[in-house]
Amino acid sequence: MQRVNVGLLGCGTVGRGFVELLGRERERIRARHGVDVAIRRILVRDAAKQRTGINPALFTTSAIDVLDDGCDIIVELVGGVHAAGAFVRRALRNGHDVVTANKALLADSGRELFATAQTHDARIGFEASVCGGIPIIGALQRGLVGDRIDSITGILNGTCNYILTRMEQDDIELADALLQAQAHGFAEADPSLDISGVDAAQKLRILSELAFGPMTMRLRVHGIGDVTRAEIEQARSRRCVVRHVAAARRVAGGVELRVERRELPESHPLAAVRDETNAVVVRGRAVGEIMFQGKGAGSLPTAAAVLADVVGLAQRNRMRVLT
Ligand code: NAP
Ligand code: HSE
Repeated sequence: MQRVNVGLLGCGTVGRGFVELLGRERERIRARHGVDVAIRRILVRDAAKQRTGINPALFTTSAIDVLDDGCDIIVELVGGVHAAGAFVRRALRNGHDVVTANKALLADSGRELFATAQTHDARIGFEASVCGGIPIIGALQRGLVGDRIDSITGILNGTCNYILTRMEQDDIELADALLQAQAHGFAEADPSLDISGVDAAQKLRILSELAFGPMTMRLRVHGIGDVTRAEIEQARSRRCVVRHVAAARRVAGGVELRVERRELPESHPLAAVRDETNAVVVRGRAVGEIMFQGKGAGSLPTAAAVLADVVGLAQRNRMRVLT
C-alpha cells in the first residue's frame, strides 16, 4: 500500500468536491489501486469560513504550511495566474508533483512550468483543466498518440453552454442565466473569462498543443456576451440552436483555432449538448471521429478528474521506485 500525502491549495467549488469525493472513494482506491490518499493541509484565504464536514485543523492561510510540509503531491485549486503560479513554481522546485485544474495558468505559463517540472524531476497532472470530468487530456496524451489528429471541435465551456441552454429553454436573459451558472459553481471567479470565450480558447489551446504539437497557431475568439433572446428565437424558427463552439484544425502552415457562436441544426450532435455538459469531437486519420461527452464543469465531476491524476501520479511514482 502506498500512502500519498496531498497538500491542497484551495477549498472552493472544486476543492470541496475533491475532499468530499476522496472521503467517498478512499477505501475503494486503497483496495483496488493500492494507493492511500490522505489530505495533510488545506490552504484557503479565509480559515474562519464554515466548511461543513472538513476537519478545521487542516486549514491554513499560509501557503508555506502546505508547500514546505513534506507533502507528496500538491493539488492546486486556487485559480487565477499570479498566486497560483507562485505556489505551483515553489512546489515544482521542491520536487513535488502538482495536479491542477487551472487552464488560465497553463495558458499563461504552461511551457515554463513544464520545463521547471522537468528540471526538478516532477510531473504536472492537468486532466481537470479541460472539460471537467471528461478524460480528454488522457485520451490525447495516451489513447490517441498512434493516430494523426486533423481536427478537434467541441463545446468546452460549461457556463456558456448552460447560459445558452437556459436562454433557449426558459426564455430568460443572459444575466439571469449567468447568476444561475454561478450559483451552481460552474463559472470562473471572474465570469468574464467564460462569457468572452477566453476560457474556451485557453482549453482549445491546451488540447491543440497535445493533438498537433508545437505548431504556429492562429486564434480567433468571439464570446456570447452579445447574444440576445431574439437571436436564439430566430435560430429556433429555423429548427436550429445557438451553441458556443471551439474548433481547431490543421491548415497550410499551422493550426487554425476558432471560438465562436454557431447556429447548428437541431439534428447536429452538438445541438443535443445541454447545460454544463461539454462535448469534444476528435477527428483522426485512422480512427475517424470520436465524440467525448460529459459534465464539463461543477464540483464533483471536476474533482473526479483531479483525483484520477493524483492516483495516476502516485502509481507512476510507485513503479519508478520498484524499477
Ligand atoms: P473557487 O470556488 O473560487 O475556489 C477557490 C479557492 O481557493 C477558495 O477556497 C479560496 O479560498 C482559495 N483561494 C483563492 N485565492 C487564494 C489565495 N491567494 N490564497 C489562498 N487561497 C486562495 O474556484 P473553483 O471554482 O473551485 O476553481 C478552482 C480552479 O479550478 C480554477 O482554476 C478553475 O478554473 C478550475 N476549474 C473549475 C471548475 C468549476 O466547475 N468550478 C471546473 C474545472 C476547472 P476561500 O474559500 O477562503 O475564499
Ligand atoms: N468556468 C469553466 C466552465 C469551469 O464553465 O467551463 C470548467 O472549466
